[in-house]
Amino acid sequence: MLVVGGGIIGLVTAWRAAQRGFTTALVDPAPGGGAAQVAAGMLAAVTELHHGEQTLLGLNLASARRYPDFVAELTEATGADLGHRQCGTLTVALDADDRAHLRELHALQQRSGLESQWLSGRECRRLEPMLAPGVRGGLRVDGDHQIDPRRLAGALVTACERAGVAFHRTWAERLTVVRGRATGVVTADGTALPAGQVVLAAGSLSGRLAGVPEDVLPPVRPVKGQVLRLAMPERGAPPFLSRTVRAVVRGSHVYLVPRENGELVVGATSEELGWDTTVTAGGVYELLRDAHELVPGITELPLTETRAGLRPGSPDNAPLLGPSGLPGLLLATGHHRNGVLLTPVTGDVMAHVLTTGELPEEARPFSPRRFDAAALTEQPA
Ligand code: GLY
Repeated sequence: MLVVGGGIIGLVTAWRAAQRGFTTALVDPAPGGGAAQVAAGMLAAVTELHHGEQTLLGLNLASARRYPDFVAELTEATGADLGHRQCGTLTVALDADDRAHLRELHALQQRSGLESQWLSGRECRRLEPMLAPGVRGGLRVDGDHQIDPRRLAGALVTACERAGVAFHRTWAERLTVVRGRATGVVTADGTALPAGQVVLAAGSLSGRLAGVPEDVLPPVRPVKGQVLRLAMPERGAPPFLSRTVRAVVRGSHVYLVPRENGELVVGATSEELGWDTTVTAGGVYELLRDAHELVPGITELPLTETRAGLRPGSPDNAPLLGPSGLPGLLLATGHHRNGVLLTPVTGDVMAHVLTTGELPEEARPFSPRRFDAAALTEQPA
């Protein structure tokens, strides 16, 4: 089998397939790159819950539950430290509007059977003394953690290599289709790579592979996110921040993710600007302004990196997993805001589909066929 795309989703698919005994190849000019190089790596099934996304919540929770074992297995396979921190998350409110929004989120979390605890502003500051005095309240979620996505991507490349995945470090230019079945790809240097099954896992680029019939192309679009990296003071006591802190400020999500190695990741914008990955003064300004309202002390920190990446957005914000409408072509894409969180479950789901031809129960709602023209024109009863 052949995987098109060497981001974390393509890599985990290739790793799991090779472990199941498939002769596995992966085509990507720079495996381990992609959105994971920019992502903050929050494992935020509870704090990123949105109205209307209860089905996605089930998959997010399934993946969050797998994380400790997944990290242990990948660490065992590679010797890599993945920067997995079971540190919890605090979502705070800065004004009355934010607080009302957070109360709504809390009610939704409770209706969904999730664990989160309402805290006063004072209780929030007791947990995180660097928070602004104006913080009006917050939600403590001890089950939402973090991982370093760059380390995760690097470890998955190593794991794939050790499991025997053949890497083709070039672009897949075109899917080959013979008598209505995907049979492989042709790469940018003209090499034909035949395969019994092709998994398209090219992130935001997944809708652009030539040769894929129009009605099968996944409806995935790029959603730009600008992210900053700062350096926290050398191991202070107490630490600068001990858990992920996030908020919705004037309608925009901002989060600060403190890594064990002293890096503080601040994200993220969400912009529908096509393929643009420019870091803009406005984007950096807004992130710093909002993060400063939460944690004024960030202005003292060195700003070490600014970068923009492209989330693979889908029409319902949920991934597309499993067989497409073209025999031989499977999809693992459209993970939008949850690619890092969904990596373990995606690997397991894709291995199951490759082996059995069927999606496991937990992944059935995420079949790409839900976007087929016939499914979209079906009227509710
Ligand atoms: N999950 C965080 C983001 O997409 O910005």
